[in-house]
Amino acid sequence: MGMMNIIAVSSFKGGTAKTSLSLNIGAALAKYYDKKVLLVDFDAQANLTAGLGFDPDSHDSMAPVLQKAKKVEDVIVSTCVDNLDLIPADTWLERVEVTGVLASDRYSHERLKETLAPLPYDIIIIDTPPSLCWLTESALIAADYSIVCAAPEFYSIKGLQRLSYFIDNIAQRHPIEVAGVALSFWNKRGKSNDAFLEVIENTFPGKVLDRKVRRDIKVTEASVHGRPVFLTAPKSRAAEDYLELTKELVTRM
Ligand SMILES: Nc1ncnc2c1ncn2[C@@H]1O[C@H](COP(=O)(O)OP(=O)(O)O)[C@@H](O)[C@H]1O
Ligand SMILES: [Mg+2]
Repeated sequence: MGMMNIIAVSSFKGGTAKTSLSLNIGAALAKYYDKKVLLVDFDAQANLTAGLGFDPDSHDSMAPVLQKAKKVEDVIVSTCVDNLDLIPADTWLERVEVTGVLASDRYSHERLKETLAPLPYDIIIIDTPPSLCWLTESALIAADYSIVCAAPEFYSIKGLQRLSYFIDNIAQRHPIEVAGVALSFWNKRGKSNDAFLEVIENTFPGKVLDRKVRRDIKVTEASVHGRPVFLTAPKSRAAEDYLELTKELVTRM
């Protein structure tokens, strides 16, 4: 891993474990790889914010920063993990691009990138909403890498092709590379596993990450406590899977 890297975690779908993955990979990089990590919650649902124990209603988000009403440094909060910071989300994000100074800015999509690029972090991870909206597009434009999330389920896999076209399109103007496709809710005995893996391999050749994140209630329990799984259940399957996945990603970037 070179200088600063920005990673967008994406899928266009809800329920593919984007938020859980952002949180736990970010925590693993900070805790076990000694990286200075910033998580950006770029989904108005604010699940990442809540998952780290913050109340979205009492913090600023990227919205006022993109609107040039606040400095980015002033919306960063530190979390329960050393070296892991967060920019929270709030509901203002949802329509931020049609509001204020952004509404008349032809280049509004570039503003996230410009804001994040000078920040003093090793890695910035952006958690995106489950749709192809302005926020998701801005995150992919800002990113050097994307982690694509999927669940072993027909509708999740089907959406990947659209995401692949979309990333290719952005890559023509902004250098972005798929770091890997991460599968969560994995069941080793799933009957359609081979079929799913084949579709993903055709869509993102060579990108499927070896380690799959198995279904583990500890992931949900950890976010209820506002902490990564490494703090609440360090010996769990989920902690093991996320750590191994982080190792693979570090190798690939
Ligand atoms: N490996 C896992 N095992 C069990 N539950 C999980 C796992 N990963 C995520 N979850 C739970 O599934 C739900 C959706 O995950 P989330 O990370 O919010 O997905 P997304 O951000 O893609 O919508 C959450 O309740 C989360 O706690
Ligand atoms: Mg989410």
